[in-house]
Amino acid sequence: MDNCKPIRLAVIGYGGMGAWHTKKVSKLPEIDLAGIYDIKPERMALAAENGIFTYGTMESLLADASVDLITVAVPNHLHHDICIAAMNAGKNVICEKPVAMNSQELQDMIDAANRNGVLFTVHQNRRWDEDFRIIRKLYEENTLGRIFRIESRTHGSRGIPGDWRNQKCYGGGMLMDWGVHLLDQLLWMLPGKILSVYAQMSYVTNEDCDDGFTAQVQFEHDVTVEVQVSTNNFISLPRWYVLGENGTVSIERWTLEGKIVKVSDWENRDVVPVVTAAGITKTMAPRTSDTIKEYPLPRIECDVRDFYRNVVKSLYGEEKQIVTHDQVMRVMKLMEAIRLSVETNTVIKDFDEI
Ligand SMILES: NC(=O)c1ccc[n+]([C@@H]2O[C@H](COP(=O)([O-])OP(=O)(O)OC[C@H]3O[C@@H](n4cnc5c(N)ncnc54)[C@H](O)[C@@H]3O)[C@@H](O)[C@H]2O)c1
Repeated sequence: MDNCKPIRLAVIGYGGMGAWHTKKVSKLPEIDLAGIYDIKPERMALAAENGIFTYGTMESLLADASVDLITVAVPNHLHHDICIAAMNAGKNVICEKPVAMNSQELQDMIDAANRNGVLFTVHQNRRWDEDFRIIRKLYEENTLGRIFRIESRTHGSRGIPGDWRNQKCYGGGMLMDWGVHLLDQLLWMLPGKILSVYAQMSYVTNEDCDDGFTAQVQFEHDVTVEVQVSTNNFISLPRWYVLGENGTVSIERWTLEGKIVKVSDWENRDVVPVVTAAGITKTMAPRTSDTIKEYPLPRIECDVRDFYRNVVKSLYGEEKQIVTHDQVMRVMKLMEAIRLSVETNTVIKDFDEI
């Protein structure tokens, strides 16, 4: 592909996320927005109002020889067919997350990419969330000593939005919606094999599909991860809570309130016991300030448009794809293991051997 010319992008599905894509690429000189297609006339009208070219049909979009790349941002159950149709038309494809309804569908999509010799990737944009990048930096730089527990969660208090997201047949539910982001982040960060998975789902506001889940994932090297998505929390727990041998980090929410606390003197075990009406404890007494030190969270520059920059550079043959087929398959298989654990109420073992 000629790296002097911008890549021509078309977007299928101009809902909340499709519109977001068109805005995000608008300031990237590497990309020209060719147009969009949406099945709903009102969304087509809105795109036209926003000055975006609208294709009359999906077929006409796929037949436009000037289009190099297509972003597919339709409800989840449609990803498989639309992405494969686009790849069979010779287009490179970015699919929204979750890439597919199951690993068999994903395999069909990967096969279509290989058969047609086109790029196929998934918009795992939350790899560029600053809160995640901070945790990744602390992990990679060993700031807390050996990390043995990671809690990653998102808490909402509105249940599942009342559109296709609350119906199983459309790929709804919180495992598919948010779980896929949190699991992708962790699998991208942690190098080890997964030894076991145990999960539970909640159905507080919804009967058809999960409105939340908690998964315990045991990695090798004694790292336990708890991933939780929940939509009925009127008090939220921290987005991240990570324990290392020499310190703890907590990040409250996306606005990045949080701190790192590290032990400065392991040897000093002097303690003022906590005395309550019913008893006394030294073990659980808070540390005094002379044996711990508090640090602010590091700040990290990150720009989600690097996802598109990477796709463009991959098309020019200048970079490797950041979100790879193998990675999205592993996340999809982990989501399947989570479902199996819930259905059977068992611990799923030897995940990476399956
Ligand atoms: N990566 C992220 O951060 C993120 C955030 C939100 C949504 N998403 C994903 O983006 C996708 C779309 O979600 P959304 O929130 O924009 O949903 P949405 O309901 O707002 O938009 C979906 C759009 O697709 C259109 N559509 C449906 N069938 C179509 C078809 N056959 N052809 C063309 N258009 C069709 C609908 O008319 C609608 O405008 C989902 O896969 C979702 O999981 C990703």
